[in-house]
Amino acid sequence: MALIGSLLLVAGCGGNTASKDGGSDKAKVLKVATNADFAPFEFQGADGKEYQGFDMDLIRALGKEMGMQVKIDNISFDGLIPALQTGNIDVAISGMSINDDRKKKVAFSDPYYEAGLTIMVKADNNNIKSFKDLQGKKIAVQIGTTSATEAKKIPNAEVKELNSSADTFLELKAGNVDAVINDKPVNDYYKVKNSDDSVKRIGEKLTLENYGIAMNKDNTELVKNLNEALKKLKANGEYNKIYKKWFGTDAPAAT
Ligand code: ARG
Repeated sequence: MALIGSLLLVAGCGGNTASKDGGSDKAKVLKVATNADFAPFEFQGADGKEYQGFDMDLIRALGKEMGMQVKIDNISFDGLIPALQTGNIDVAISGMSINDDRKKKVAFSDPYYEAGLTIMVKADNNNIKSFKDLQGKKIAVQIGTTSATEAKKIPNAEVKELNSSADTFLELKAGNVDAVINDKPVNDYYKVKNSDDSVKRIGEKLTLENYGIAMNKDNTELVKNLNEALKKLKANGEYNKIYKKWFGTDAPAAT
């Protein structure tokens, strides 16, 4: 890291005319962080080597489009916004829903995916059929997420805040909670990918949430470049290709 930094510095001072679009071989590093336990958006492959998922493919494609070298770090979800604020990272891409509260702290790219929250319960649970049935129940959510915010609004619910969505599924299967709340695509992927018959999904969506890529508010240049790159990928079919790879269908027309 330090080495790359000083090489860049040398290149910058040496009058080495890097192309303006950043297409030089001394590509600038884009410091990305995610919380890589949120399949199919970000997760660590079985080999433990590379971060995979829709967000990971998207940010790599965006970096390429901007002529930047993408470096991805895995940190806790509730550490992402602080890391942007202190300037430790340039962007956070982590299935992060755009909302007013977060907009006070960070800047978001244009929306890149539409999600919302759903419930999952044990397959043999017959008394939870919608969000209103969660009153007084034990619910597992990931800490710092919109699921956590919403769960805390449910009267008399006992909310267990865990480090990852994977932990919420474990807690449900262990019978320690009555339900989990997660983003719909994450509940769906878990259920389908694992062909897990011990859990079932409740169809109702509590919220409509748009994912955005978060950046430091002062980094207006990056926000602009990233949005331009995103527009390009949407226009040239690259975004759709990534979408199809992870969700099996074409991206909805609005995105
Ligand atoms: N969309 C939800 C939120 O913004 C959950 C995101 C969790 N992401 C993750 N990589 N764990 O709060």
